[in-house]
Amino acid sequence: MKLLLVGSGGREHALAWALAQSPLKPKIYAAPGNAGIARHAECVPIAATDFNALKDFAVAQKIDFAVIAADAQLVGGLWDVLEGAGIKALGPSKAAAVLEGSKGFVKDLCAAKGIPTAAYQRFRDAASAKRFADSIGLPVVIKADGLAAGKGVIIAGSKAESDKAIDFMFEGGFGDSGNEVVIEEFMDGEEASFFALSDGENVIALAGAQDHKRVGEGDTGPNTGGMGAYSPAPVLPPSLEQVAMDQFIKPTVAAFAEQGRPYMGVLYLGLMITKTGPKLVEYNCRFGDPEAQVLMPRLKSDLLSALIAARNGTLNKVALEWSADPALTVVMASGGYPGPYEKGHEIFGLEEAARIPGVTIFHAGTENRDGKILAVGGRVLNVTATGATIAQAQQRAYEAVDKISWKGSFFRKDIGWRALKR
Ligand code: AMP
Ligand code: GLY
Repeated sequence: MKLLLVGSGGREHALAWALAQSPLKPKIYAAPGNAGIARHAECVPIAATDFNALKDFAVAQKIDFAVIAADAQLVGGLWDVLEGAGIKALGPSKAAAVLEGSKGFVKDLCAAKGIPTAAYQRFRDAASAKRFADSIGLPVVIKADGLAAGKGVIIAGSKAESDKAIDFMFEGGFGDSGNEVVIEEFMDGEEASFFALSDGENVIALAGAQDHKRVGEGDTGPNTGGMGAYSPAPVLPPSLEQVAMDQFIKPTVAAFAEQGRPYMGVLYLGLMITKTGPKLVEYNCRFGDPEAQVLMPRLKSDLLSALIAARNGTLNKVALEWSADPALTVVMASGGYPGPYEKGHEIFGLEEAARIPGVTIFHAGTENRDGKILAVGGRVLNVTATGATIAQAQQRAYEAVDKISWKGSFFRKDIGWRALKR
């Protein structure tokens, strides 16, 4: 069986690592991949954004199944391009990727199906948006409707900030993604993520996780793509996972089926655990990054068969087993990230770190140049460990982190603190 994995981040390395262990013994191609993915796959120099080249490659290589990992490709319709050429792929389709591609669409779906979420309204002009923002009190949450590379949400603490954010979006600060703006009430609580897999009709639970989005210790400073994560999330015990399935995921999948756009693929449910119960923050149409890096080490069953079943409508025949042992990942980043950073420094200590029991290192921004592994991205490595407890996983991950370095590298020293505080 031949697979094509599209992408080059730490999430994609975790997926490649899990897919490579499949009893279906796949030959994996990764486009474009990275130095870590290259251990499990043949990397081909095709950009994840070049849909036509990906399609041509898949057709020429007679790829049996493609795994599309990132929102930009799914919302952009790569599934439709590949399937249109006869290549089976993990969705969702472009029509169903609206789950992540339009915040307004999802809010309306929540309203129609009684899915708990913050009060909101959708706007197409600044004056009425500002009037509504003024009416719901501070802080107020202002969101560009479409994808904005994780930057399209502004939590405004004053009227001046709120007006500025609304003007910025309607003036094209996030391009077409801000043609429509969603204004919503601020929810207070702790965030957690829950993942599920759907074939359009049947849906199975994957697992829960929590990530650390801010660059600084104590969850302070600018937002990043994620500086670390762990699974399971103690804030989401099995009883709340059941609530996530029954009150959020299942009605969502049913609504997509009713609308004739069956949702086939991963659902990433972002929840706020508030005093009055869990409420939806957002949906994504893919695995999280770095959440995939802590989900994959806990998955005892075959990932590939489950993803193929999601494409083929046979998830009712799949049961996944998860390890009870938690996993925790620490992101090592280049100095300056999430701002400008230097590229091309050699990374030392990878092999020694990987020998620590329970440790797996997933690569994000790395490149192999003449046998040297170089840091070429902002987020560079995901140093991941499993353990009998979150504390043990954390201790092992940091033991490994301490063995790794390159010029300017840094990491957060408190990944998992919310879980350990409980
Ligand atoms: P999103 O892109 O929708 O996930 O939003 C990015 C981040 O903004 C979330 O992870 C939350 O931390 C925060 N956020 C979004 N909406 C709300 C809300 N209504 N109340 C509080 N925080 C929010
Ligand atoms: N870790 C957040 C995301 O993948 O969107």
